[in-house]
Amino acid sequence: MREEGHDVRVVPTDSALRFVGAPTWEALSGHPVSTQVWDDVADVQHVRLGQWADVVIVAPATANTIARAAAGIADDLLTTSLLTATCPVVMAPAMHTEMWLHPATQANVATLRARGVTVLDPAVGRLTGADSGPGRLPEPADLARVVEEILAGGATHDLAGRRIVVSAGGTREPLDPVRFLGNRSSGRQGWALARRARARGADVVLVAAHVDQPAIPGVRTVHVGTAAQMHAAMVAESAGADAIVMAAAVADFRPAGYSESKIKKADDGSEPEPVMLVRNTDVLADLVARRHPGQVVVGFAAETAAGADDLLALGRAKLARKGCDLLVVNDVSEGRVFGLDTNDAVILGADGTIVADAHGSKESLADAIWDAVVKRLA
Ligand code: CTP
Repeated sequence: MREEGHDVRVVPTDSALRFVGAPTWEALSGHPVSTQVWDDVADVQHVRLGQWADVVIVAPATANTIARAAAGIADDLLTTSLLTATCPVVMAPAMHTEMWLHPATQANVATLRARGVTVLDPAVGRLTGADSGPGRLPEPADLARVVEEILAGGATHDLAGRRIVVSAGGTREPLDPVRFLGNRSSGRQGWALARRARARGADVVLVAAHVDQPAIPGVRTVHVGTAAQMHAAMVAESAGADAIVMAAAVADFRPAGYSESKIKKADDGSEPEPVMLVRNTDVLADLVARRHPGQVVVGFAAETAAGADDLLALGRAKLARKGCDLLVVNDVSEGRVFGLDTNDAVILGADGTIVADAHGSKESLADAIWDAVVKRLA
């Protein structure tokens, strides 16, 4: 973080100093360090540090520190700083797998997340002993990226404590063991939505069909293949969610039958059997039907329109059919949008009025969508 130009203050716990001594932290940060509220009392450090920070990173966050933070205990400089900090807080847990999976730790993590703390899932791999499993500290570069994204969002932490489910990517409907009906969705917009929601403090679940994107640190990803699997996963994950965004390109139709063996060419040169299609469930419409009071449901509309007016008309008709709270209307004619880094979109409110006009990166469209969601959640 210092190499990126940030001013960093290190607040070790007493235990941390058994691993790395204070002089090292002082040399690396360029500031004095202390663990106790009784040092530099005249500076009221235990209040100042939390107030001063733009972001607090607890790395590694031990089971003990997580428990103390969840309980609001304030018995050293780190925990008093956590109680006085009003900025985003990121915790990167690191501990043995058994400690991470223990119901006490999991309950503490759930408490912190509900309060808006970004608690990353630990990385999976070799731990300090001979054991391996979930519990490794995420790579420093991944941690730094999470923090940079949070800082890029300015002070906006307006999705803190919110549970959000985003679907992304394109579903694949199998015809036989080697073939499927698919679509051109890359998953980038859903990924941008998940990254920005997490940066704004939300607890995010990503339900991902086929995508070409790497996992996002701090976001739980549920992988699905077909529209039916997407439907089941979205219904299960959305039950307790504050907001749902259907950014996935879900297949409307699937082959009526599935061949257990590869479909072969006929020896006599005759044409293949036509493929019959049947309709899939409309996941978005079903989520709208199940929506609980206060839950915000956002849909996307991919349209090939003749012009801006046509695009709006198609979007409004779809909005009326789907009944969602917000609809993001994209023009996908002539290869626009799919696989690109930018988007041109209009966001419609439930009554069909234009809420926002977003041009530019998928990240900025994601932020425009979350701005509109935040207003509706309030
Ligand atoms: N969607 C869905 N389930 C489907 C098809 C689409 O949940 N079986 C969702 C998409 O994720 C998107 C929205 O519905 O949020 C609109 O998708 P789109 O493909 O534009 O619309 P369709 O409903 O498929 O309508 P049409 O293809 O007839 O324009």
